Amino acid sequence: MTEANSSGWHPHLWHPFTQPGRGPAPLPIKRGDGVWLELEDGRRLIDGISSWWVTLHGHSEPSIAAAIARQAETLEQVIFANFRHQPATELSERVCALWPGLERMFFSDNGSTAVEVAIKMALQRSWRQGGQRHQVIAFDGAYHGDTFGAMAVGERGLFSAPFEPKLFEVARAPWPATWWGDDACEHKEQQALSQLEQLLETPTAAVILEPLLQGAGGMAMVRPTFLQAVQQRVHQAGALLIADEVLTGFGRCGALFASLRAGITPDLVALSKGLTGGFLPMGVTLASEELYQQFVGPEPECTFFHGHSFTANPLGCAAAVASLELLQARPERFSSIEARHRPQLERLASQAIVQRPRLLGSIAAFELAGASGYLQPIGLEVQRLCLGKGLFVRPLGSVVYLMPPLCINDQELEHCYAVLNDVLEQLSARA
Ligand SMILES: Cc1ncc(COP(=O)(O)O)c(C=O)c1O
Repeated sequence: MTEANSSGWHPHLWHPFTQPGRGPAPLPIKRGDGVWLELEDGRRLIDGISSWWVTLHGHSEPSIAAAIARQAETLEQVIFANFRHQPATELSERVCALWPGLERMFFSDNGSTAVEVAIKMALQRSWRQGGQRHQVIAFDGAYHGDTFGAMAVGERGLFSAPFEPKLFEVARAPWPATWWGDDACEHKEQQALSQLEQLLETPTAAVILEPLLQGAGGMAMVRPTFLQAVQQRVHQAGALLIADEVLTGFGRCGALFASLRAGITPDLVALSKGLTGGFLPMGVTLASEELYQQFVGPEPECTFFHGHSFTANPLGCAAAVASLELLQARPERFSSIEARHRPQLERLASQAIVQRPRLLGSIAAFELAGASGYLQPIGLEVQRLCLGKGLFVRPLGSVVYLMPPLCINDQELEHCYAVLNDVLEQLSARA
């Protein structure tokens, strides 16, 4: 076996969003169990961010592991252009039953592809209708993934700069993020809505948003009433509303889906991450029967010419069915987690260094006073100090957040806040 070098970086691995010139080497890990990660050196850490927001119930959840093992012995993979199988049909029936008006499920591989598919469906629909509706509208601060289409609709900046000339044009509306004690919220929302109205005067194929919470953009939360007003304007303009629920879906936001909590009914929905409980990579895009019917007909150009080798992988589908079963069997796990966070975040927010605290379902976030932006080194420092105390977090620059797996118990949640409290006191004392 090739060993890592003395700085801890392996000679053959290339990790995402990180590199040896900036920041510590990834830690060798042995196993995961519930909220806990166990390193090869025996240290145990609470996974405070659900491993990039995918681990829904907890690591190595036995019922999902068993479902995957059972499925692997029956059918591991088959070409989905020519066959259908029970795990896919069951998953589509179960998920579509939760979404009034969305009866069709298209499978892909991850969050980015689920978004790509939604955008391509909206644009192909427009093309089939005569191609007048070219415009796509997204929101400032959005993140929809790293493939080209998903990158195009996301906020442009450091991540997308090398590819800028190859990204398609997107119109942008402001995202009126809010937090506890924000007294300018209504004003920000009005401004955002009037800008959106202006943009919608241009024929528009689709408007894409992350309902209730922009994740990678800084855990930026908006009010349900804002989303309802957006939906009303989008539909009035004859455009499609795409909800990117890659992060917010499957209980993360305190309800099964953020759109349901916000009282909106999008035309296309992208799901991934928690879909398989975080066990296997899979994405799905939900669409209405009406939209689907526009892709049916004798002309070849009706066809949606998109597909991935692993479309509707049976193992992923079996994991997703097992995960959904668990979620629905224990709804209190996601419906009560916001109330469990609240008093702890309130206490933490009494520290002057904690700014703009906010909470949505299993996600608690705040900003560090005196710092703003993704490249703030303070985020790495918070990560380092928390690791030393048994908590894994990965701040988005100056935005610190907790998003633990839903299985976290009270004692473990208290431990997360106690660690953050200590670390913030330490940082404040240095200032
Ligand atoms: C809202 C949202 N959309 C899309 C994506 C992309 O998902 P993936 O990383 O699985 O491609 C992410 C990933 O963090 C996300 O948060």
